[in-house]
Amino acid sequence: MSILPSAGQSHGRVTVPEILSRKLIRPGEAPLTERKITSLTAYDYPTARLVDEAGVDIVLVGDSLAMCVLGCENTLPITLDEMLHHTRAVRRGVRRALLVADMPYGTFQNGAADAVRNAIRLVKEAGAEAVKIEGGERRMEVVSRLVEAEIPVMGHIGLTPQSLHSLGGFRVQGKTAEAAEALVRDAQALAAAGAFSIVLESMPRELGARITESVPVPTIGIGAGPDCDGQVLVLSDLLGLTEGHTPKFARRYADLRHTIHQAVAHYVDDVRKGAFPADAECYHFPAQGRETPRARS
Ligand code: KIV
Repeated sequence: MSILPSAGQSHGRVTVPEILSRKLIRPGEAPLTERKITSLTAYDYPTARLVDEAGVDIVLVGDSLAMCVLGCENTLPITLDEMLHHTRAVRRGVRRALLVADMPYGTFQNGAADAVRNAIRLVKEAGAEAVKIEGGERRMEVVSRLVEAEIPVMGHIGLTPQSLHSLGGFRVQGKTAEAAEALVRDAQALAAAGAFSIVLESMPRELGARITESVPVPTIGIGAGPDCDGQVLVLSDLLGLTEGHTPKFARRYADLRHTIHQAVAHYVDDVRKGAFPADAECYHFPAQGRETPRARS
């Protein structure tokens, strides 16, 4: 093999080097907002395809899959096998975006060797191009071992849903001076360990901006204000599929719950009153009327 794609460009596909090159906010430089990184979650083939075709840079198979699709109360119960199953489906739908898979709770807390073994499965068996890991300074060893194993790592700090019980609930993080300092240190530790980007979740916007200025890798905010290098949202929130409370940063761009409810109720009504199927939606005997059609065409 002698052909090397140039500077992270790979036939129009978004790559890890390209994401790194889109670090926007460097101290003393004006941000290039048009190069902001966009990311969304996806959990299955059809939505992955739509999200990818609409031009998102990073598709994340988040462990929010547990709550958004599998009906769990939080993200803790989801298994590696479930993440593998959904990542494979998303892989089939993603052509351009970078595909990142979340490492579920329990797959990296038992040490670096365990983390590398589990992350390799997400890459090898499901086609993930990078993995995401929750936690800051204390994940440094795991992150550097994954990077050594050629697995790009996206960090995730602030409100880390897998720490639900130790945080005491889904709460905005970094609100005191000490907590904010600790998050800055977490981000710097992740960057030093080799993470190629860091998700900043639920923190004051000023802290999102400060962390973004203090690390050499892109930050991707979710409830961390506009001054991050990119933004990520949970697709179900954006589409209006989430039931019940959503955090204030989760802007709803559509109301698919209502649309789907209306469509299904309309269908039920049509069937009950004999309006579906109409004659145009029926097969008929051929004009001469000898054969019964057998196949759907
Ligand atoms: O699981 C998820 O969807 C996430 C995003 C909120 C970043 O981690």
